[in-house]
Amino acid sequence: MPPTDRDGRVLLAYFSRSGENYWNGGRRSLDTGNTEVLAGLIAARVECDVFRIEAADPYSDRYDDTVARNVREQGDDARPAIASDLPDLSGYGTVLLGSPIWNVQPPMIMATFAEAATLTGATVLPFVTYAVSGLGSTESFYRDLRTGARLGDGLAVRGEEVRDGGTGSDVDRWLSAAGLA
Ligand SMILES: Cc1cc2nc3c(=O)[nH]c(=O)nc-3n(C[C@H](O)[C@H](O)[C@H](O)COP(=O)(O)O)c2cc1C
Repeated sequence: MPPTDRDGRVLLAYFSRSGENYWNGGRRSLDTGNTEVLAGLIAARVECDVFRIEAADPYSDRYDDTVARNVREQGDDARPAIASDLPDLSGYGTVLLGSPIWNVQPPMIMATFAEAATLTGATVLPFVTYAVSGLGSTESFYRDLRTGARLGDGLAVRGEEVRDGGTGSDVDRWLSAAGLA
């Protein structure tokens, strides 16, 4: 779809996993995943439609099992299936694309989404939560998928800090730099 068919609407699409996770060097079980919390802060600040990316085969709520599955999926360059059919996303001018960092990059299900979503001509702004890696290789991950999207600056928030008060101002700065707030 050519860029001219896109409009000013914003889509926020994110993947997040609750359950046992890394937390300040130990483990903690989270009822709501860190990226979901960050997605909520963003959605409260910019008018957008929200799509939650869920795996057809859900990820384990155990940390070690998820690490092992992710290593396999990265090694295989897998495209894990998404639980539901995607709605028509071809008209959004801007797509905010959120995920955790798994082994220094977004989970492979983000490649499934990015390839299926028809992003040609859209502006994609990645956002991630992480433990130590920051954005990691998020930007090259999305660039290498050759979706035809323009890639804007990413936002990275440490998962352990996403519920702290200061995160809102990081989100504000990111949205404002992107001309969205
Ligand atoms: C399978 C797996 C791999 C991870 N790999 C990394 C990593 O390489 N670097 C990093 O900083 N954090 C890593 N983490 C930590 C997560 O990125 C971090 O806890 C994030 O906030 C989780 O987001 P979520 O709760 O939305 O899933 C990993 C977590 C999991 C479950």
